[in-house]
Amino acid sequence: MTDILAHNRESWDKQAADGNRWTVPVDSARVARARAGDWAVDLTPRKPVPREWFGDLKGARLLGLASGGGQQGPILAAAGARVTVFDASPAQLERDRSVSERDGLGIATELGDMADLSRFADASFDIIFHPCSNCFVPAIRPVWKEAARVLRPGGRLLAGFCLPVLFLVEEEKDDRGEIVVSYRIPYSDTEQLAPDLLKKKLELKQPLSFGHTLADQLGGQLDAGFLLAGYYEDSWEPGMSAISDRIPTFAATLALKP
Ligand SMILES: C[S@@+](CC[C@H](N)C(=O)[O-])C[C@H]1O[C@@H](n2cnc3c(N)ncnc32)[C@H](O)[C@@H]1O
Repeated sequence: MTDILAHNRESWDKQAADGNRWTVPVDSARVARARAGDWAVDLTPRKPVPREWFGDLKGARLLGLASGGGQQGPILAAAGARVTVFDASPAQLERDRSVSERDGLGIATELGDMADLSRFADASFDIIFHPCSNCFVPAIRPVWKEAARVLRPGGRLLAGFCLPVLFLVEEEKDDRGEIVVSYRIPYSDTEQLAPDLLKKKLELKQPLSFGHTLADQLGGQLDAGFLLAGYYEDSWEPGMSAISDRIPTFAATLALKP
């Protein structure tokens, strides 16, 4: 049986080496602008997160959950948060460490699995920033539960995720503009991908993906004790995905811990 965490760790290390767009760190000019109050970050491919979703960022203890790559962590640190970036990929965390050292941002990094935050005490963070990444774990309810535990009462969870419709269709055909519905939701690469496609994915060290239901994405946050306070949807850039040209394929939520 495939060790999903180990495979995806190696795979994201490779994505970082290959320069995947989610692994390219911010430059010093952007960090300087963020220090001056001019900043925006994304939870989904294109739409910036509304600034009011963060509440008061100055001095806030912020956990960037599965947020490595030297992108959002450095911007949020420059905007005044005390940032810990948590990720499964050493190469992704190295991006945050090097930007932090280069620009004096004091970011802490932690290597691990988003479903296990046991190293953090209850109520250790004011904000969790969790960009689109729960498509890389087979079960997301444990992630919401752990997020609720490590946030203080009154804390907030900002999360981006893929909408289920994205996983109904064959990815390679979708990329070429063809919509072929072949899968069911919940989706799992390891259970539903044809054996030759799965073999290729494993050999090429591409990340293994999972498509979760809205019951697990939204209901899972509510069941973990959060109240939903904000929602928007997003898509890939036009022409990148046939399905995403027709219906939003990403969403972001603001959830509050009472
Ligand atoms: C699409 S990238 C998101 C980060 C990126 N900075 C962004 O702009 O959204 C997905 C991230 O999830 C991380 N990841 C995958 N599986 C994980 C797991 N089980 N636990 C923690 N992080 C994981 C990857 O290493 C990668 O850095």
